[in-house]
This record gives sequence, C-alpha cells and structure tokens, in this order.
Amino acid sequence: MILKDYKKHFLSELEGQYPETETLSFFNLLAEDILGFSRVDIVMEANSEINDAQLIKWQHALEDLKTYRPLQYIIGSTEFYSLPFNLNKHTLIPRPETEELVAWILESVTDKQEKISILDIGTGSGCIAISLAKNLVNAQVTAYDISEEALIIARSNAILNNVSVTFKLMDILTATTLAQKFDIIVSNPPYVRDLEKKEIQKNVLEHEPHTALFVADNEPLIFYDKITALAKNHLKPTGRLFFEINQYLGKETKTLVQKYGFKEVTLKKDIFNADRMLGAKLVNGE
Ligand SMILES: C[S@@+](CC[C@H](N)C(=O)[O-])C[C@H]1O[C@@H](n2cnc3c(N)ncnc32)[C@H](O)[C@@H]1O
Repeated sequence: MILKDYKKHFLSELEGQYPETETLSFFNLLAEDILGFSRVDIVMEANSEINDAQLIKWQHALEDLKTYRPLQYIIGSTEFYSLPFNLNKHTLIPRPETEELVAWILESVTDKQEKISILDIGTGSGCIAISLAKNLVNAQVTAYDISEEALIIARSNAILNNVSVTFKLMDILTATTLAQKFDIIVSNPPYVRDLEKKEIQKNVLEHEPHTALFVADNEPLIFYDKITALAKNHLKPTGRLFFEINQYLGKETKTLVQKYGFKEVTLKKDIFNADRMLGAKLVNGE
C-alpha cells in the first residue's frame, strides 16, 4: 500500500473518535516512529510504498488507538522539556504543566553552575529530576518513587539523557526521615480526587497508572501534608519547596504549607490559567 492511501484509511478509521487535528497528529508521529519520516517527508514521499512489516506496526497502533491507548505508550516514548523519555504503562505521561514547574524551578536558581542538592518525590518517568539534572550540571539529584517498575524506566531515562540521578524505592507516606538536607524539594504527587474521575478522559482513566494519579476524596492533600512536614526538617535554611497541585485546591494547599511555617508561599497559574504550582521558602527573602 502507498503512504497517501494508508493515510486516508488511517484517518477514516479513527473518524469520530478523536478530533481530526489529533488524528492527524497521531499519523504524523507514527510516520516518524515507523517510517522515520518528517512532516515534509510525508508530503514529498506520499507515493512511497509501505512494506509488510511497517504495515503491521501501523495496524497495531491503529487498533490500540481505537481502545484509547495513549500514543506515547504505543510509541513507548515522549518528549519533555525538549528531552527524550521512555515510557510504559507504569509511568505517568509527563504533562506540559509539569514543564512549566521545571521552568519555574530553573528560574529560581540564579547560579546554574552551583552545586545544589535536589530531591524529586514521586518521580515516575524521572522527567522532573532528569530535566533539572540536565540543566543544572553540578546539581546532585535524588528521586524517589513507590513503583519499582517506574524506577526501571526512570533509570533508563537518566542513561538516555546522560545524567546522573540517584533513584530510590520509597513510600513517602511511611517515611519518617530523609537521608540528607536538600536545597530544593519538588514533587508532583498524586492529586486527583476520586470525585474528579468523571472529568478524566478515557485514555487517561483506562491506561495511566492509578497510583500515580488518584487520592481519596477525604484526604486529598495527604501527599502535600507529608512532604511539607518532611521538607520542614530536610531543607537547608535557604531551601525551597515546589509542588504541582490540584487546580481546585490551590487555596487549601497554600494554607497547609503556611501552617508548617513556610514563607513566601506562592501559587502560580499554568498556561490554562489554573492554579497549578506552588512554591515556598523555608526562610523569608533568601
Ligand atoms: C503524578 S505522578 C508524577 C510523575 C512524574 N513526576 C511527572 O511529573 O510526570 C506521581 C508519582 O508518585 C508516585 N507515588 C505514588 N504514591 C507514592 C508514594 N506513597 N511514595 C512515593 N511515590 C509515590 C507514583 O508512582 C507516580 O510515579
């Protein structure tokens, strides 16, 4: 079959299931993954033949997309902060909002060559820890997760991006202490309440790891409470705490962090104008 005919078939098979722009973007990303074609190649090579092995890959991807399996899991990778990341069903797909959190943390570090220590709690694919390590070349970065499977992927991503990060299996909810004091503690913990499940799209709900996403309705800030308590005792005096947060619980999360005595507790909106990040200092003005 030639590429332009397969494209017609692909788009019509997914018609009505996804917006057309999204289906087109799936096609382009799969063409890059399966054929190694750029968008320009797709146009210039529209009459090129797809061989049997390639056709099988396309068909598997198409069937997966019909079950709403996210494309990033089908391809097994994604890009975060302009870096490549391997993914599988044990790792949350990194979100653009989290890139904004990384950018905010990087802005807060005036000397990018400084030897600072950073802890990322609930690292998943390692996206936060690794992109910070990549951009802060002398930073000593540690990352925890409760999922051994996620840590396997995170370790592979550190190698892929040629950075050194210390990964550790850890249930932060049962931790009573941390191994050292840090300059920065960051976390994008599970924060979606069960009651918000009805707002969640099928591709997320049925395919992404629930331990990465959900918290009980009656304890929505359980991770923030625990991590802030630990941070209070394990940040250096000039240290900073950064969170990605539930957009509906900005005020409550801010109050909680203030309750622990943190200063300059700031909420920051994401590009969709939702309260999505929180930053705080242990001491005023440092
Ligand atoms: C929202 S995901 C964030 C993943 C990644 N940092 C990102 O931003 O894409 C939350 C992560 O916390 C991990 N996690 C859940 N419960 C945990 C616990 N009790 N202790 C440590 N990590 C936990 C999950 O396995 C998941 O990788």
